[in-house]
Amino acid sequence: MSTPILRLAAESDLPTINEISNYYVLRSTCTDQLKPESTADRLAWFREHPPEKYPVTVVEIDDDIVGWGSLSKWRPRAAMAPTGEATVYIRHDSHRRGLGKMILCDLIERASPIGFHSLIGSVSADQPASIALQESVGFQPVAHLTEVGHKFGQWLDLKYLQLMLDTQAAR
Ligand SMILES: CC(C)(COP(=O)(O)OP(=O)(O)OC[C@H]1O[C@@H](n2cnc3c(N)ncnc32)[C@H](O)[C@@H]1OP(=O)(O)O)[C@@H](O)C(=O)NCCC(=O)NCCS
Repeated sequence: MSTPILRLAAESDLPTINEISNYYVLRSTCTDQLKPESTADRLAWFREHPPEKYPVTVVEIDDDIVGWGSLSKWRPRAAMAPTGEATVYIRHDSHRRGLGKMILCDLIERASPIGFHSLIGSVSADQPASIALQESVGFQPVAHLTEVGHKFGQWLDLKYLQLMLDTQAAR
C-alpha cells in the first residue's frame, strides 16, 4: 500500500466524502441518518466547519480519498463549546489498515490547540469497530442510552465515549 496522505478537506472533496458515508447510511447502524446526505446539505455542513474551529480532514492513497474525519460541535448551545464530537468514516473496502486510527489521532492532535477540553464519540452500541477504534486511542465509555434510536426495524442503544484533553481553558 502506498503511504496514506492526510490533509484538510476542500469543497471539491465533498462528493467523495458523501459517497464514503452515504454507503453506510443505507446499510449500517453506524450512522443514525436514514437518508443519504445530499450534496447541498453536505456543502452547508462543510461551510459550518472552518478549519480553525471544526476541521474536516481526508486521507488519500494514490490520489484516491479513502476516508474522512471531522470535529464538530457536540451540542449547539454556547456553554458546550469546549466539547467537540469526533467522527471518522473509512471507505468500506479499506478497513483495518490503520486509517481510522490515523484520522482520529490527527483530530485529537488538532483539538487541544483549537481549545477543546474534551471530545465525545457517540456510537451505536452494536458497532464494535467504532467502539474499539475510539478505545484504542484512549476514549472511555461514559454513558449508555437504551433504545433511543430506531433504524432497519430495530431499536438502537447509543454509547457515549469521552476523551479528556490536556487543555484547562474553556473556549
Ligand atoms: C470504525 C472505523 C472508522 C474503523 O476504521 P479502520 O480504519 O478500519 O480502523 P483501524 O484499522 O484504524 O483500526 C484501529 C483499531 O481500532 C480497532 N478496530 C477497528 N476495527 C475493528 C473491528 N472491526 N473489530 C474490532 N476492533 C476494531 C482495533 O483496535 C484496531 O487496531 P488493530 O487493527 O491494531 O487491532 C471503520 O470501521 C468505519 O469507517 N466504519 C463505518 C463508519 C463508522 O462506524 N464510523 C464511526 C462513527 S464516528
